[in-house]
Amino acid sequence: MTEHRSKDSFTSNFGMVAAAVGSAIGLGNLWRFPYLVGQNGGAAFIIVYLALTALISIPILLAESVIGRRGGGAPAEAYRKVTGRKGWGTAGILGMITCLMIMSFYVVVGGWTIKYMMLSCMWQFHRGAVIDSAAMFGAFTSGSISPIVYSITFIFLTIVIIMLGVQKGIERTSKLMMPMLFVLIILIGIRSITLPGAKAGIEYLFRPDFSSFTFDSLLAALGQSFFSLSLGACMMITYGAYTPRSSNLTRSAAIISVSDTFFALIAGCAIMPAVFAFGVNPSQGAGLVFVTLPQIFTQMPLGGVCSVLFFFALFLAAVSSAVSLFEVITSSLMSITGKKRTTSAAIVALILTVTGSVCSLSQGVLSGVTVAGLNIFDQLDYVSSNFLMTTGGLLTVICVGWIMGKDAFTDEITAGGTIRVSKNLASALFFVIKYIAPVVIATTAILIIV
Ligand code: PHE
Repeated sequence: MTEHRSKDSFTSNFGMVAAAVGSAIGLGNLWRFPYLVGQNGGAAFIIVYLALTALISIPILLAESVIGRRGGGAPAEAYRKVTGRKGWGTAGILGMITCLMIMSFYVVVGGWTIKYMMLSCMWQFHRGAVIDSAAMFGAFTSGSISPIVYSITFIFLTIVIIMLGVQKGIERTSKLMMPMLFVLIILIGIRSITLPGAKAGIEYLFRPDFSSFTFDSLLAALGQSFFSLSLGACMMITYGAYTPRSSNLTRSAAIISVSDTFFALIAGCAIMPAVFAFGVNPSQGAGLVFVTLPQIFTQMPLGGVCSVLFFFALFLAAVSSAVSLFEVITSSLMSITGKKRTTSAAIVALILTVTGSVCSLSQGVLSGVTVAGLNIFDQLDYVSSNFLMTTGGLLTVICVGWIMGKDAFTDEITAGGTIRVSKNLASALFFVIKYIAPVVIATTAILIIV
């Protein structure tokens, strides 16, 4: 197979893993995972989540990186090259559209994280401060100018990293941000677990309660695994194209998934014990992070410091995920138009300024504009995570399992026989990609629709 790699690639396997972990760890880990665990039977959900991630998600992640590294180039190009069929380029275009949709609301939340990081640095959430966090959040997010300015700032910070390129931008910042993120969340976790009354939060997270685990919980576990590992959005296809031929894709897929899951578990331990120690409602979604936690910080010893650490962590998690979404769109645009990285990134930033602003306004003046009962922001979130990512995942496994075939798959994961991967493991992974994953994804998609 000829190499179609661009010159600007990751310098090492660690660089690729750091960037992919950066993509995976995001808002999905920090607020979605903890409350889903709570709503769906605590440890029962965690066990099923772990099983699904190991059985289904890791092979899909691997399949994406196989397409990316073997095909090289942007997702559409990679799909076309590995299949030898032009029509498959559509799968890559779909990935670009998915990322554009996710990014449109992600930049809005990214802007909120900057605002809250600033508020916490201005010592607004110190112990003893009197705030009405719900009113504060509502007034800010429903405004017209201020949240848009923050989301444009967020776009600007992301675009700087993208313009610096794969090596100097994405790889370097990920290598710096990821260890920082782990340290921050562990520090907050220690503070949270040592609060009086924290035990109830740990129990809520880790006591298996199979009676609250329903069939919907199963769907939620799979959906969360997809979203959290950034599957079905061509992220790993894009990063795979920048991965050195010598790196072990199977091991990397496992490391990325384990890191993401481990981070989600620590995030749960950082948030839930504090929530329980102060007796507030744990299952609030986005409000948990921007409304409940600020209120808790004002009551907790070292609350001010914790608020700074927490919102900084949330910001890092949001930026590193946004970088990957931005890169999928930028590399696709570079390949479609033939324009340079800086020009393409600037065009993407302009598009996102418009779509992000509309999303932001849908929390305020445009909140009356709804599609099927959901405002624009929620609709984009719903459609991209429930339909587009699953369709993307399905196309990935069909491409590898049914079009590329086992020989090409094995050749790629062993880098032409130079990397040792046991025959049984390779066969098992391929079996999951070819038969199990498509059936599971298709069944889930149908069940979500019905
Ligand atoms: N995985 C990210 C999160 O947990 C979201 C994401 C999805 C990022 C798809 C890139 C692509 O927040």
